[in-house]
Amino acid sequence: MNKLCLLSLVIGLASQSAWAETAVKPASNPSTLQAKNAFIANLMKQMTLDEKIGQLRLISIGPEMPKSEIVKEIAAGKIGGTFNSVLLPDNRAMQDAAVAHSRMKIPMFFAYDVVHGQRTIFPISLGLASTWDMDAVTRAGRVSAIEAAADGVDMTFAPMVDITRDARWGRSSEGFGEDTYLVSRLSATMTRGFQGTSTQAPNSIMAAVKHFALYGAVEGGRDYNTVDMSPVRMQQDYLPPYRAAIDAGAGGVMVALNSINGVPSTANAWLLQDVLRKDWGFKGVTISDHGAIKELIDHGVAKDFREAAKLAIKAGVDLSMNDKAYGEELPALVKSGEVSVKEVDNAVREVLGAKWEMGLFANPYLRIGAAVDDPADRDAENRLHRAEARDVARRSMVLLKNENDTLPLKKQGTIAIVGPLAKSSLDMMGSWSAAGLARQTVSAYDGLANAIGDKAKILYAAGSNVTDNQEAITYLNKMDDQIHIDGRPEQDMIDEAVKVAQQSDVVVAVVGESRNMSHEAASRVDLVLPGRQRDLIKALKATGKPLVIVLMNGRPLALGEENKLADAMVESWFLGTEGGNALADVLFGDYNPSGKLPMTFPRSVGQVPAYYNHLNTGRPYRVNDSNYTSNYFEEPTSPLFPFGYGLSYTQFSVSDIVLSIKQMTRKDKLTATVQVKNIGKVAGETVVQLYLRDIAASISRPVKELKNFQKIMLKPGEEKAVTFTLTEEDLKFFNPSLKYAAEAGDFKLMIGLDSQDVKETTFTLQ
Ligand code: NOJ
Repeated sequence: MNKLCLLSLVIGLASQSAWAETAVKPASNPSTLQAKNAFIANLMKQMTLDEKIGQLRLISIGPEMPKSEIVKEIAAGKIGGTFNSVLLPDNRAMQDAAVAHSRMKIPMFFAYDVVHGQRTIFPISLGLASTWDMDAVTRAGRVSAIEAAADGVDMTFAPMVDITRDARWGRSSEGFGEDTYLVSRLSATMTRGFQGTSTQAPNSIMAAVKHFALYGAVEGGRDYNTVDMSPVRMQQDYLPPYRAAIDAGAGGVMVALNSINGVPSTANAWLLQDVLRKDWGFKGVTISDHGAIKELIDHGVAKDFREAAKLAIKAGVDLSMNDKAYGEELPALVKSGEVSVKEVDNAVREVLGAKWEMGLFANPYLRIGAAVDDPADRDAENRLHRAEARDVARRSMVLLKNENDTLPLKKQGTIAIVGPLAKSSLDMMGSWSAAGLARQTVSAYDGLANAIGDKAKILYAAGSNVTDNQEAITYLNKMDDQIHIDGRPEQDMIDEAVKVAQQSDVVVAVVGESRNMSHEAASRVDLVLPGRQRDLIKALKATGKPLVIVLMNGRPLALGEENKLADAMVESWFLGTEGGNALADVLFGDYNPSGKLPMTFPRSVGQVPAYYNHLNTGRPYRVNDSNYTSNYFEEPTSPLFPFGYGLSYTQFSVSDIVLSIKQMTRKDKLTATVQVKNIGKVAGETVVQLYLRDIAASISRPVKELKNFQKIMLKPGEEKAVTFTLTEEDLKFFNPSLKYAAEAGDFKLMIGLDSQDVKETTFTLQ
């Protein structure tokens, strides 16, 4: 890693001098805000309206426009930035066109969806969230930035921090789950990881937090669908994670595709001006999502392209992503006076400001470097960070069940590895895998085989396809990569797997979803294991062999059946480049699993939206008392696995809670302490979680809300005191008038190792 940092630094310095001849020189000391403002104001004075509008266009490197055309348009001052190119020579050619050939010589910037890795792929965001480990997540963000910057990327469209309570939504995989506090912590952490100490550093990339706002609340979990939400819920639950990224310094905000209470985010002046800029003080650049401006016509708020452009610029969308609206419509709109020069200038100022903050005026080749320094092989092994990826991946797995200590496995006898995902390295990367390569990614099978060596015999069978739904296959295969389908009859595949199981001492079944099932535009109507995989699991169980289910998926699944059948079950999400090796570390006990669920796992799809921090209702669901209460009558209303849940190969005890005071004034700090002890046989980490409930308030408050957590490591027999400190700030909420304040009265304080299994006490705020 250090070598790379050094290299980027050297590249940065080398090309800085080359650039100095052509650069528009910063007005004065580049580090001061005053200097930045003066420099940009001076630049804008010299720009024509067309050049200004050009800066507002962010173009995709893809089939829509040939590269040669893009270079020509850049030289003509008609494009401000591009995304989707990670080829240094291509980015260099585009930068040359901007700084050597365009009249104003304003540098381009290059963006990319670096969501959970660039070349080295880390676990998907839900997996990162499952670590509850901010150091691990910082490392994932930092390595991603270092690798992306070395590929000439200046900005990432991440972190994605949409709160998700509906697992049908395929983009659940891209976010950090259902809880406002946890997602907010991760949002800030990932932002800092990407941006490092400064967005101007050669090995940092600017974070553009997305999707602003509330995209995770699309009705029915159907992608791009409507969002309708009360102002209190927005402020309390859904908006804080975006703000957390902004408070952590995120330089960009991507505007969501959805409407909010009827007004599309892309035309939403309240959202982009009142909330974002006035209330939160955001000073960076806003970016529309792909094609979102013209979608204002389909939303039914713009009658044509012209009106769409007008609405977006007036609402406060600075950059238009792969959309011709600004380029084609703004000149006439300004000419007619419908859009003022000031409105265009406001957007241009933010784009130029972002370029300044990315260090590009000081050196447009800061991340691209000089051609002589390009790596001979851009996919070279030594450009990867495998050790970091393996460590984070093993921290992200959640042990859901472990009957009779089935896990960890011993490297002996015969081990059957079955399942449609066992040999898939492509799926192991998860969706949005940036420049990651399947051929550099360790599949579950390969990782287990590496670990086993010649100590045990391995038998393999695919057992089934990931799905047998032809329509689904056709749909999913229209996306960038193909689901591998074995043409044999499904029953033959199951029979083959059963034979393999019969000859083995233990069965490891790697089942779940293909990566493009948990992706954009990949919403599901069901949450069970797709295709014949459930039949495969039943058939394997019938052999009587110990059955370990390893799940690969990007959303909570409904696993009631599998939970009954499996002896052990591990949620591995999509683990990334080092997935198979990390999985082997967990299955063979070289690493004791410590992940905790960042989303509730429902019993069935009918329970969604399923989230732990719901309101109590007037007729709360109670176990064993379901008459005229808020429940479903066919099965228990509780989740299968609650938020915050996850087992370990050891056990922990949690003592009763000791409070420093029972009566708290608004000036007091209250501490809550528990003793946590490792009462098992091996060392392990666990996450101690603190929840609060305001028992009676001016508005109904959730049954519990996460307010803090600590991840601790304990040796066998070791006991540690875990202390949390609460202030008035932790007790605040948005009341019906949207005032954020704490109300006097009684609170329930809960501490435990998941959101259900908690110790309780009470205190009073005076
Ligand atoms: C559309 C997606 O909604 C967004 O998340 C992504 O950043 C852009 N495309 C660019 O790839």
